Amino acid sequence: MDGAALVRIRVVVNGSARELEVVPHALLLDVLRDTLDLKGAKRSCDTQVCGACTVLVDGQAVSACTYLAVEADGSSVLTVEGLADGEALDPLQRAFLDAGAVQCGFCTSGMLLTARALLRENAAPSREDILHYLRGSLCRCTGYRKIVEAILIASGATR
Ligand code: FES
Ligand code: FES
Repeated sequence: MDGAALVRIRVVVNGSARELEVVPHALLLDVLRDTLDLKGAKRSCDTQVCGACTVLVDGQAVSACTYLAVEADGSSVLTVEGLADGEALDPLQRAFLDAGAVQCGFCTSGMLLTARALLRENAAPSREDILHYLRGSLCRCTGYRKIVEAILIASGATR
């Protein structure tokens, strides 16, 4: 804590209403990971380049490493922890597993949420649409091909 006055925010995180006090410059990524103990969103580049920290705010993909928590006031935030419905995986999670699109897993939560945002905008994306949408999501393991396959599979399952 650095002495800055706290700001009260209300957010719905993965379906649960939360009221939090944060410093004005608190990053959404830190609030999710450190205050709410949701470790799915990862910190890597810290400069809005890699996509590892991607979460959805009111359905839009944002880089939580550069997004202020106060900007999320009044919004719904979805992290990878909120994708599954109990024991039932989200179709994207299922497709990532089935397609072998997960290796070290560091990029996976960001990829899943970016893909969720894509399918919300475009339920039937082409391979090129997917590659274009993933241009801000870096993976150093998979070569992307299986990730694209997984998103194509999931788009068929969710249509
Ligand atoms: S850690 Fe946020 S975009 Fe890389
Ligand atoms: S699976 Fe390792 S960075 Fe993507």
